[in-house]
Amino acid sequence: MEVKRVAVLGAGLMGHGIVQVCAQVGKFDVTMRDIEQRFIDNGMKMIQDSLQRFVKKGTMSEGEVKEVLNRIHPTLDLKAAVENADLVIEAVTENPPLKKSVLAEADKYAPPHAIIASNTSSISITEIGAATKRPEKVCGMHFFNPPQLMKLIEIVRGLKTSDETVETIRQISTKLGKESVVVKKDTPGFIVNRILVPALNEAVFLVAEGVADPEDIDKACVLGLNWPMGPLKLLDYVGIDTTLFISDVMVSETGDPKFRPSNLLKQMVRANLLGRKTGRGFYDWTEKK
Ligand code: 3HC
Repeated sequence: MEVKRVAVLGAGLMGHGIVQVCAQVGKFDVTMRDIEQRFIDNGMKMIQDSLQRFVKKGTMSEGEVKEVLNRIHPTLDLKAAVENADLVIEAVTENPPLKKSVLAEADKYAPPHAIIASNTSSISITEIGAATKRPEKVCGMHFFNPPQLMKLIEIVRGLKTSDETVETIRQISTKLGKESVVVKKDTPGFIVNRILVPALNEAVFLVAEGVADPEDIDKACVLGLNWPMGPLKLLDYVGIDTTLFISDVMVSETGDPKFRPSNLLKQMVRANLLGRKTGRGFYDWTEKK
């Protein structure tokens, strides 16, 4: 199936980056939908800031920036966003009832041939697919933060996802300049988060136990493992709440206590210390904001 028009639902931390990659690298016409104008404005601002980084680096001209921005069509109207789309990518908050209601609405208005992909990092694709009347055309399309730079897309099969859907998303991923991997079974955490989240969580246990300071834990992983950023900085970057949510889903879906989150992670969410997005997590981000 040929994809020409893409709709991205959600203009947040992941949504704006996915919109940008689709317009910048895939050269698709993209509608970007969110529920309030301030979220749209914030998404457009993040896209402009990111595009300017490419200009500064010398890999993009101001003319190309204009072309990319012209391909992006922001809207508050879900029906208008999806009614002409060949591919809908859902990137709303990790909240199962919300995701399912957004998917059901997208299913109602998107053309029958359209694929509906979800950027969920933890929620079951089979469950999300069941909220639509086209579960064979629903799959996971999991980008990594920041989507503009991270090379991987995890393509996740739900129980009813068709081979054709997986193949189309694989081709689109290539068109977006990404490498893809197929997660053959709809399993909590897929591949990357199954490995990453317990590692991040273990770093939080180290802080809670007073084994080392956050700076030293991060330094150890950067210099001892060649990680681009340490686990606590990465937690701040991805969002403490997002990581706790994924951890909770992994525990509840598998019943395996090895995934249980550190109590400190829970306390930080209660205290609104969510990382970069609230200005503080393990680090103070107010200057960098
Ligand atoms: N858009 C465009 N360019 C960007 C950018 C953006 N949003 N963010 C950073 N850059 C560019 C910078 O301009 C800079 O370019 P330069 O090298 O030409 O100067 C370059 O990227 C490096 O940026 P910085 O110097 O600001 O910072 P870093 O060197 O630390 O790089 C990083 C930033 C690429 C984010 C790097 O730290 C990194 O790879 N970190 C790990 C990210 C990671 O692991 N992501 C996965 C998280 S897990 C996930 O997403 C799954 C989810 O389900 C939880």
